[in-house]
Amino acid sequence: MSAKINIAVLVSGGGTNLQALIDAERSGIIKSGEIRLVVSNNPDAYALERAKSAGIKTAVCPKKGVSQEDFENRLTGLLEQNGTELIILAGFMCILSEKFTSKYEKRIINVHPSLIPSFCGKGFYGLHVHEAALAYGVKVTGATVHFVNEIPDGGEIIMQKAVYIEDGDTPETLQKRVMTEAEWKILPLSAEKVCENMLKERG
Ligand code: GAR
Repeated sequence: MSAKINIAVLVSGGGTNLQALIDAERSGIIKSGEIRLVVSNNPDAYALERAKSAGIKTAVCPKKGVSQEDFENRLTGLLEQNGTELIILAGFMCILSEKFTSKYEKRIINVHPSLIPSFCGKGFYGLHVHEAALAYGVKVTGATVHFVNEIPDGGEIIMQKAVYIEDGDTPETLQKRVMTEAEWKILPLSAEKVCENMLKERG
């Protein structure tokens, strides 16, 4: 067994959070874990290019036209074949069933672009989260990293960081600020914290 926790990152799109994880591993912020696999449900995700450039193994696990059960069986197969110990959802836009999440209790973490329990759950993903925050008129938003269980965005919170809304913000400007000021910081820090604890548990 490797001296580091074997991490798989699940992605669907641009992969800026994946990039933050790759950069954090390079700079030593993540020292207890190693990203060994990146899986995308979307074959065109730019995140796959980021992984390839970093020399990380990639796989595509399509969701379209596949039953939830078949999708999760294929995903589980990929993770098991690669010896994954920790799963990081970094902009992964698929909901995982209880059958899947219960197999990986406290072994899946997710980054969400709001301060949970605000603007989260079914239908709140990507830019929609920031549209909802601006429509409500909140003055502070942020990002949350949490463990994943059967309730969408409902698992135990690991870390949060607040970000102020500024006059003239659009969903796009707010999304960018939440990413740079919060998500790209707390996701790597949370990954390290969880990996460090997992290493301690290994003894
Ligand atoms: C990020 O803002 C992430 O928090 C969000 O999608 C974006 C993906 O960007 N995830 C969710 O909304 C999940 N509920 P990225 O592909 O550049 O990391």
